[in-house]
Amino acid sequence: MAKTATSKQVGTATLNFNDKTATLPVLGGTLGTDCMDVRKIQSELGIFTFDPSYGATASCESSITYIDGDEGVLLHRGYPIDQLAENSSFLEVAYLLLNGELPNEAEFTKFTNGITRHTMLHEQIRNFWNGFRRDAHPMAMLCSVVGAMSAFYPDSIDIHDEHQREISAFRLIAKMPTITAWAYKYNVGQPFMYPRNDLSYAENFLYMFHGVPAETYKPNPVLTKAMDRILILHADHEQNASTSTVRLAGSTGTNPFACIAAGVASLWGPAHGGANEAVLKMLGEIGHKDNIPDFIKQVKDKDSNVKLMGFGHRVYKNYDPRAKIMQKTCYEVLGELGIKDSPLLDLAMELEKIALEDEYFVSRKLYPNVDFYSGIILSAMGFPTTMFTPIFALARTVGWISQWKEMIEDPTNRIGRPRQIYTGAAQRDYTPLDKRG
Ligand code: ACO
Repeated sequence: MAKTATSKQVGTATLNFNDKTATLPVLGGTLGTDCMDVRKIQSELGIFTFDPSYGATASCESSITYIDGDEGVLLHRGYPIDQLAENSSFLEVAYLLLNGELPNEAEFTKFTNGITRHTMLHEQIRNFWNGFRRDAHPMAMLCSVVGAMSAFYPDSIDIHDEHQREISAFRLIAKMPTITAWAYKYNVGQPFMYPRNDLSYAENFLYMFHGVPAETYKPNPVLTKAMDRILILHADHEQNASTSTVRLAGSTGTNPFACIAAGVASLWGPAHGGANEAVLKMLGEIGHKDNIPDFIKQVKDKDSNVKLMGFGHRVYKNYDPRAKIMQKTCYEVLGELGIKDSPLLDLAMELEKIALEDEYFVSRKLYPNVDFYSGIILSAMGFPTTMFTPIFALARTVGWISQWKEMIEDPTNRIGRPRQIYTGAAQRDYTPLDKRG
């Protein structure tokens, strides 16, 4: 297992406030921007730092994923995402994220067997679904069922036990495809398909999703590869909103199932994982290439509240490297399915072309992100739009649990507790109801 390196002091920064001076350490990691360590700022200067939305704040040290947003680089444990997407498999990437190194053959066999042996859900969890409305959003079902896992697997919630941590990671990675596929089956009223451990991770998910007991399921290698690649591309993305949610929840010492349920909830929003669903909705609303100029006009109008979904990113100020691989995968999938004309893809390409030349997007460094093409691929593969974000959650579970594990194993971990600038009323005395005007 790779040892987590720690940051080193690379300099100091001097801050003056009123008549006090603080000399604060500046820390550097292996790659990326150095960070001023402000932990002693209150004791030295009597002030806190203010950074709503954490755009300028490093919340932790991590050796899992590195992003260079200006250059469009994404590395997992040092390996570029395009090399992993091209040559690796989702389970190998899962091992890498969790353990720090690529596995040798024996390690990989043991890991794969470990995951495969946990794909079934406790039979009692089936009953959960009967309580949901048939039209429940699958993300609502995912939040609830993942949270409920802590009630069904109490033997793996002691976070201080290394073996239990490993088992809960296996359970989450192994059972997410089953939960996700069953959420869909419940929506459409088809029988739940039990996992098949003779199939690969991606194959098994496609089988549980698309298969029915009345027919023999024939896996398609091109679509299986595309599914596996989509999972790799969504596996981790350092300290994004949902991962930070998982870490914040985990910092309290709560169990991993509760933490991942919190991550699922955070991912659901349209500014985050919900964007893939929003892209298809947007393309549907635009409808035709001729309507693009009008749509772009709305996007540029601040009062309209319309955004070009699948564009822009807090960290990437360049083309999201995952979007390029998605675009290539999109062609492979459409080719395999014999879809020669895809109005959605044509529309997306035209939208991208226009946006990349438009001053509004160029000056703000807004480029396509991972979600711009993923919806088109998933749609072509027969997934309804409501399933896009659950599939993202399925993949990201690996990143969440790796980041959670790293945090729990870090001896410096303390409960997360941001501060605030209070702007409410100053202290005042209670007035009885009959004395209020
Ligand atoms: N369409 C139009 N304008 C945009 C877009 C967009 N998609 N994204 C950002 N902008 C504009 C903002 O209005 C702002 O303009 P201003 O400077 O004139 O006020 C400027 O670009 C900077 O944007 P911010 O909102 O400050 O960027 P932030 O880092 O806060 O937001 C976010 C990033 C949430 C991803 C945003 O770009 C967005 O909403 N994109 C669309 C939703 C989306 O695709 N989300 C998926 C993200 S990837 C992921 O989670 C997997």
